[in-house]
Amino acid sequence: MQYYTAPMEGLTDRIWRQAHQRWFGAPGAPARYYAPFLSPPENRVLIKKKMAELDPAANPGAPVIPQLLAKDGALAAWMVTELRRLGYTEVNLNFGCPSGTVTAKGKGAGMLRDPAKLEAFLDEFFSRTEGPVSVKTRLGVTRPEEFDAILDIYNRYPICELTIHPRVMRQLYRGEADRAAFAACLPRCRMPVCYNGDITTPAQLAALEAEHPALSGIMVGRGLIADPALLRQAVGGAPASKEELRGYLDELYHGYTALFGASSCAVSRMKAHWHYLICRFEGSEALEKQLRKAREGWEYEVVVNQIFTLPLK
Ligand SMILES: Cc1cc2nc3c(=O)[nH]c(=O)nc-3n(C[C@H](O)[C@H](O)[C@H](O)COP(=O)(O)O)c2cc1C
Repeated sequence: MQYYTAPMEGLTDRIWRQAHQRWFGAPGAPARYYAPFLSPPENRVLIKKKMAELDPAANPGAPVIPQLLAKDGALAAWMVTELRRLGYTEVNLNFGCPSGTVTAKGKGAGMLRDPAKLEAFLDEFFSRTEGPVSVKTRLGVTRPEEFDAILDIYNRYPICELTIHPRVMRQLYRGEADRAAFAACLPRCRMPVCYNGDITTPAQLAALEAEHPALSGIMVGRGLIADPALLRQAVGGAPASKEELRGYLDELYHGYTALFGASSCAVSRMKAHWHYLICRFEGSEALEKQLRKAREGWEYEVVVNQIFTLPLK
């Protein structure tokens, strides 16, 4: 069983990948770090700032898999060629993003609205590209039963791995991942399958592995931002110490400050991490409000120093 880190826009960028590797990279190193989605530019001119995320020089040691958010098969195939030029092999296609701005353009989980369009995309895409291509998908738009027809289509293409997040588009992240629907579709999947959704503890990881030993992988997102040592613990390693969390979060903060050129910009990125992580500190509720109000670097630093006086749960 392999463990992967989920692509998360605004969280699992190159700064995070390096900090996570350095502080929590082993044991239990993720086999793959899936990068947040990139949309292939319609004019076929790569955007330097976006591509900087995938510059191999900025991702040393990290097994990164780029992800594409596209609805034009020919354009997506062109982008795969560009990514392969950079040295990437596997590329992931995103048919799971539920965000309204994405699905309104017919991308992400919006691709699941019309199976005929999905099939036309995959036909065009796979007729123009070779090499490993994986897919990350939801079960459908409104009902999990839609996945029957969607899976029939996926089964016709050489998808190297199918990551299933068993929610439907309309659910966004509400409710629970539908484990029963996931289990029911597994016997019909012709490709290796990775599970993704709502895994937050090493015990949940172990239980899922025991229930589905034939999975090729398990992908973890929010659970890993909340507990960056989750995968280390899954292989019997130690939980994150306060010193490690401090080092990791300081590295993120300094990395974002250098990248954005201002600590105030780094603060907003750090708040996204703290949103998931702060609950690991005993009695952090009052400080959480203060952290939300922090705008300047110095305000952030004062609150973070206070948070680190609290015991870890
Ligand atoms: C803030 C945020 C950003 C995300 N960005 C992406 C993305 O760029 N590509 C993608 O396929 N999924 C994205 N996702 C979905 C996650 O990869 C994952 O499927 C989801 O969080 C469920 O897994 P989890 O319960 O382990 O977090 C994002 C989710 C969140 C909460």
